[in-house]
Amino acid sequence: MFRFENVYQEPLEDLNFTINQKDKVILFGPSGAGKSTLLFLLNRLSDPERGQIYYEGEPIQNHPIIDLRKKVGLVLQAPNLFPGTVLDNIKYGPSLVGNWKNSEGKKLLEYVQLPSSYLERDVDQLSGGEKQRVSLARTLANSPEVLLLDEPTSALDYRTAEEIEEVLKELIEEHQLTMLMVTHNLSQARRLGDRGLFLKDGRLQEDGKIPDMLDHPKTSQLAEFIEQ
Ligand SMILES: Nc1ncnc2c1ncn2[C@@H]1O[C@H](COP(=O)(O)OP(=O)(O)OP(=O)(O)O)[C@@H](O)[C@H]1O
Ligand SMILES: [Mg+2]
Repeated sequence: MFRFENVYQEPLEDLNFTINQKDKVILFGPSGAGKSTLLFLLNRLSDPERGQIYYEGEPIQNHPIIDLRKKVGLVLQAPNLFPGTVLDNIKYGPSLVGNWKNSEGKKLLEYVQLPSSYLERDVDQLSGGEKQRVSLARTLANSPEVLLLDEPTSALDYRTAEEIEEVLKELIEEHQLTMLMVTHNLSQARRLGDRGLFLKDGRLQEDGKIPDMLDHPKTSQLAEFIEQ
């Protein structure tokens, strides 16, 4: 699905790896390792200084950027909704390409387990967890193939985080999505991931199966990171 060839982008150095369809990848490592930087390369929020990224066999920059960002959806730690109602937010993407039907709204809220009455609510009046559900619904409105998640639950309290995690798990299963998620929570990594990429000092130190790589780290860097 994605292939990185000798990709350099501060602070990332010389990344070479492949992401396959339906991989559930956890990106983890110390703060400043370049996790968000790597995620943003995948929907061209940034482009590498050197090297080449391929998406579906084509150089990533050959895909029209609107198409790419629909197929490769991003959800951030802090829900980035704009002022207005829930409906305003979730129909925005599809409306741009004249592809919105009002019946979609109810379905999208069902995906993220919110009642359809929320469509008319002002986003300012929602709780943090509800906002994160709406962010997710907005990304799903574009029918993505890939979901990029940058610490999607780390701004939420424990209980709300677990609920969102459950929603994510079901969605990824139901829509057969490819997922790349950044998380600092290794229990969450075990629940949601089947593959791990451990980044440190801008380098991919380990690429392995979850939970194996967490139970039996091959490098001292990963072993130390897990112990902390
Ligand atoms: N364009 C840039 N030029 C130079 N340095 C940059 C640039 N963009 C980011 N950095 C630096 O690269 C490092 C990695 O940033 P990044 O946000 O990817 O880390 P991260 O692994 O996501 O960390 P965190 O866990 O704190 O979110 C940071 O130290 C940041 O200051
Ligand atoms: Mg980050």
